[in-house]
Amino acid sequence: MPKDTDAHHGPQHVAIIMDGNGRWATQRGRPRLFGHHAGARRVREIVRACPDEGVKYLTIFAFSTENWKRTQTEVAGLMALFRRYIEREARALLDEGVRVRFIGDRMKLDDKLVSLMDNLELLTSENNKVHLTIALNYGGRDEVTRAAQRLAVEIEQGRLTHKDVDAETLSKFLDTQFLPDPDLVIRTSGEARISNFLLWQSAYAEYEFVDTLWPDFSAAEFSKVLAGYGGRERRFGAVLA
Ligand code: FPP
Repeated sequence: MPKDTDAHHGPQHVAIIMDGNGRWATQRGRPRLFGHHAGARRVREIVRACPDEGVKYLTIFAFSTENWKRTQTEVAGLMALFRRYIEREARALLDEGVRVRFIGDRMKLDDKLVSLMDNLELLTSENNKVHLTIALNYGGRDEVTRAAQRLAVEIEQGRLTHKDVDAETLSKFLDTQFLPDPDLVIRTSGEARISNFLLWQSAYAEYEFVDTLWPDFSAAEFSKVLAGYGGRERRFGAVLA
C-alpha cells in the first residue's frame, strides 16, 4: 500500500539519469558492460519500489543520442541488454501493472529492438499502476528539433498556422506528449549536469544529485531522496504568500 504521507507530498513524476555504471565496473576490475548489467538489476528494484513510494510516473535515461560515440562493443552490448531486459521483464511488468513507453528517436535502432519495444508498449497499454518511460536514443534537443519539424509540416500543409504555435501546442509534438512534467530529476554518480535530458519538460523540476553510482542506488536510498523532496516548496516562478 502507498504510504499516505509520501503519496500525498512526494513527487508524482520522477526522472532519473542513471550514471556511474562504467566506474562501478572499473572499480571492480570488470568490463563496463558488467556495470550496465548491474544497473539493469537496479532498474527492476526501483520500478518495483514506485507504487509504495506513491510515484506514478518514472522516466529513466537508458541511452542518449550521444551514447553512440562509445566503443562498438559497449554500444552493441547495451543494445543486447535492452533486448534482453524487454524479453525477460515483459511478463513481470505486465503482471505488476506497469505501463511501459519509450521516448527517443527509433529510426537509428535496429528492427528487432524496435519491434520488442512496440510489442511491450502494446502489451502493457492497459496498465495504469506505474507509468515507466524509457528514454532510448533520446536527446532533449533532438526531441525538440523533431517536434519542430513535425509542427512545420502541419503548417506547410495548412492544418495549423504560425499563430497556433505556443508552448502548449509544441508540447503535443514532443515524445513526452502523454506525460506530465517531471517533479524531480535525480542524477546518480556525483555529476551535476543535465546532459540533454528532458530539457523542455524539466523547466520547473527539482534536481537531486547523489554521489552513489547507479548500480549501488538502492530502493532505500531512492526512498530517502523522495522524502527530501517532500520538504521543499516549489513556486513555479511565483511568490507564495
Ligand atoms: C551511464 O553510466 C549509463 C548508461 C549510459 C546506460 C544506462 C543503462 C542501464 C542502467 C542499463 C539498464 C537499462 C535498462 C532500461 C534495462 P556510464 O556508463 O556513463 O557510467 P560512467 O559515467 O561511470 O562511465
